[in-house]
Amino acid sequence: MIERELIILKPDTICRGLIGEIISRIERKGLKIIAMKMLKLTIEQAKKLYEAHKSKAFYDELVNYMSSAPVIAIIVEGDDAISVVRNLIGLTDGKKASPGSIRGDFSVSNSKNLVHASDSKEAFEKEACIFFSNEEIIEYKLPYEDFLN
Ligand code: CMP
Repeated sequence: MIERELIILKPDTICRGLIGEIISRIERKGLKIIAMKMLKLTIEQAKKLYEAHKSKAFYDELVNYMSSAPVIAIIVEGDDAISVVRNLIGLTDGKKASPGSIRGDFSVSNSKNLVHASDSKEAFEKEACIFFSNEEIIEYKLPYEDFLN
């Protein structure tokens, strides 16, 4: 089933010069980028993004970190995009993430883990509108789309 998924390249991706590497992996997998922007999150936006983690001990640190430097927000579209992206990025803790995944290849941290991706359709609906209006999501056909699915 064709799904949409939100991916956030976190401050560590931008500050470590890994933007191209990670976007390239997303493209090469066969996911279609249908929205993308760089922005510096406000504390309020970061709090909203991580509302589900409000009760966790690391919440304040996470919110401050996410608003400390720019992030890049991306919406992709593809067959089963949510699980495909979650597999592509790997487990939360970079130390435990499998080699070959983004976190497994580039992170040794539970917090500076380079990427965020919505963990369900409901989370996508809630999180995507923090970053994008409907007008900023572009529907188009890739010339090679028929070769992807
Ligand atoms: P993410 O996939 O964006 O979802 C929640 C984020 O909380 C997670 O990635 C990490 O960046 C952060 N996180 C999860 N567990 C911890 C932890 N134990 N300590 C610090 N940050 C954490």
